[in-house]
Amino acid sequence: MRQAGRYLPEYHEVKGKRDFFETCRDAEIASTITIQPVDHFEGLIDAAIIFSDILVIPQAMGFEINMVEGKGPVFVDPLRSPEDLSRVNFKPDILKSLDWAFKSITLTRTKLNGRVPLLGFVGAPWTLLVYMTEGQGSKMFRYAKEWIYNYTKESHELLQAITDACIEFLAQQVVAGAQMLQVFESWAGELGPFEFNEFSLPYLRQIAQKLPQRLSELGVKESIPLTVFAKGAWYALDDLCESGYDTVSLDWLYKPEDAVKVVNGRRITLQGNLDPGTIYGSDEVISQKVEQMIKGFGGGKQNYIINFGHGTHPFMKPEKIEHFLKECHKFGSQ
Ligand code: CP3
Repeated sequence: MRQAGRYLPEYHEVKGKRDFFETCRDAEIASTITIQPVDHFEGLIDAAIIFSDILVIPQAMGFEINMVEGKGPVFVDPLRSPEDLSRVNFKPDILKSLDWAFKSITLTRTKLNGRVPLLGFVGAPWTLLVYMTEGQGSKMFRYAKEWIYNYTKESHELLQAITDACIEFLAQQVVAGAQMLQVFESWAGELGPFEFNEFSLPYLRQIAQKLPQRLSELGVKESIPLTVFAKGAWYALDDLCESGYDTVSLDWLYKPEDAVKVVNGRRITLQGNLDPGTIYGSDEVISQKVEQMIKGFGGGKQNYIINFGHGTHPFMKPEKIEHFLKECHKFGSQ
């Protein structure tokens, strides 16, 4: 999840006062930050996720973005009407514009030297449309909603261009060394079920359907596991299980037992879904919640990857995260 490293003092030591995106583009620094949690929690973490951001696709499509301390990402010129689309690069050269991301993945794979697998990722089309139109995080989603309800045709054109860029970016991450991929639809919960089926799901499906073809064109022979995380889209779990993804990552709005019932024996791995806020609780509370979660996901019958239901916060104590991880191993092995 995003911000994963921010609770670690060593993250701040390495990043210093550097600009966030500058840090991402420096393969040496990005690979160091990626591996920090693996070193810090030696033996307790089963994978690393490359240090980058979902907003690198908008950057490749021509947007200028500042990461503002204490506020998050801010777009210099968000899209406010269809005329603004003339500024967007609908067919970005992903290999060239995001070459730093591929270098960073390759270097990280080399440094990891097989300790844990490396995950690549991308932001999903609807979530990226939200950022392109709102220009930053939002409470009301006025501009994103104006686009889908008022400029519907243009929204679909933009979503399609983003989808094409996402597929190419994911495929090239695999060529560079990513061993599993995750698609983050962080703003899914801002859409109702009908709108999700129109503005999110078809593009999520396209990514899963077209990626294998692109990978095979690029000479990748093995199949690469693909995860979807659609935050807030509890109504869509059944559809997501039929969308071509291997793993469906869940936020904490699901009762694990209910999610397992929806999967109903299909070849889907579930991932999730502890409220990251649990980390603010006592060790006893953390232990209890971990046990409840693992038991809920079926105690071994359902394929399952432990994760938080969303990102960690910068205020969380590394010792608490360590306790969480140890308890996962304890209850997991039972
Ligand atoms: O966590 C990791 O280090 C893995 C790499 C990663 C980042 N962002 C680094 C990051 C991943 C997988 C992301 C995904 C991401 N980025 C998402 C999808 C997941 C989610 O959280 O829903 C989203 C929506 C973003 C966009 C984004 N990037 C926001 C809203 C922010 C600001 C966060 C805040 O609260 O200030 C970021 C910044 C960001 N991306 C940081 C990191 C480590 C924090 C940078 C810092 O302050 O040092």
